[in-house]
Amino acid sequence: MKALVTGCAGFIGSHLTERLLKEGFEVIGIDCFTDYYSREIKEKNIENALNHDEFEFIEKDILNMEEYPEVDYIFHEAAQAGVRASWGKSFEIYTRNNIEATQKLLEFYKNKRIRKFVFASSSSVYGDAELPMKENSLLKPVSPYGVTKLAAENLCYLYWKNYNVPIVSLRYFTVYGPRQRPDMAIHKFVKAILNDEEITVFGDGTQTRDFTFIDDAVEANILMAKSEIEGEVFNVGGGSRISVNELIELLEKIAEKNAKIKYIEKQKGRSCHVDILLGHRSRCDAGSYAVCSLPIACYTTGHSRRIVRMDHQKCCHKVETVCKEIRRIAMLI
Ligand SMILES: NC(=O)c1ccc[n+]([C@@H]2O[C@H](COP(=O)([O-])OP(=O)(O)OC[C@H]3O[C@@H](n4cnc5c(N)ncnc54)[C@H](O)[C@@H]3O)[C@@H](O)[C@H]2O)c1
Repeated sequence: MKALVTGCAGFIGSHLTERLLKEGFEVIGIDCFTDYYSREIKEKNIENALNHDEFEFIEKDILNMEEYPEVDYIFHEAAQAGVRASWGKSFEIYTRNNIEATQKLLEFYKNKRIRKFVFASSSSVYGDAELPMKENSLLKPVSPYGVTKLAAENLCYLYWKNYNVPIVSLRYFTVYGPRQRPDMAIHKFVKAILNDEEITVFGDGTQTRDFTFIDDAVEANILMAKSEIEGEVFNVGGGSRISVNELIELLEKIAEKNAKIKYIEKQKGRSCHVDILLGHRSRCDAGSYAVCSLPIACYTTGHSRRIVRMDHQKCCHKVETVCKEIRRIAMLI
């Protein structure tokens, strides 16, 4: 089986690539090393894959390619990520890499015999939607980034509807783990604590987020690729809802150091409270879909405190692995 991973040198794409190789796939990766963060970090991300015989790397911009590899599966991870940077003039980078690149891929694969096209969407499509954020909630993004991810998700849907491209969109809720992007909260907080630098918190820090461990996000991709589902959208969350203040406390404990925190006004374009419901609970209960075997599956907002505490412990362990990784990166650069 052959798979294409776009954005293979990024945080999620590089983990997914390694997992697919482990599963026995032949993997072709495309990445153009956009300058959103350092090329050096991205080169390290794909180091392991590059040593693998079944991996082929194409260093190209999706939009500068005339055609794409003949494959069975497409995992479209490439994008311009980041909510904060999506305002103003940089919006055109977002429309280009998130909307136009997705359209070009869909246009190419619409007449090919592919098994699945999995699109990396985002919880940012919800904006300030009511909790719990369900796949059928009203979608009103509150950031330009969210608007571009929603547009790309809609493109996926319409290529499924009109051309039967077997798409599935996965709405990730803040993914964390080794190789996390340097602009993301856990990475920045750990680095600041280790370097005795100030952590800037938007608002009072009581806002909660749902963090998803990288392995769970990767697992969701694999399960979706293997399942019969198409034309649908799934939330992918970790079930470990935690406030920014609690997260910092946790990192302080792990790093055995106090953080210097500066609270500033809440930023535009961030949904304050997010929660998850990993897709289509009733179907999971009926056991119809592989997704029910996800370790992260199917928690509703009504879930008991016991589950939250259990997840919190797991979260501590996983955050520890992130700390180790960030120490490693800090030593490399
Ligand atoms: N990390 C998260 O928490 C999160 C949350 C929600 C959604 N997502 C989505 O998941 C996907 C992966 O996110 P990530 O955190 O790994 O981001 P990342 O920035 O680490 O990876 C994206 C990769 O895509 C590449 N890329 C961008 N535009 C390209 C183009 N035109 N041609 C070729 N390569 C291109 C970049 O060089 C980069 O290596 C993105 O689609 C993002 O929107 C991520």
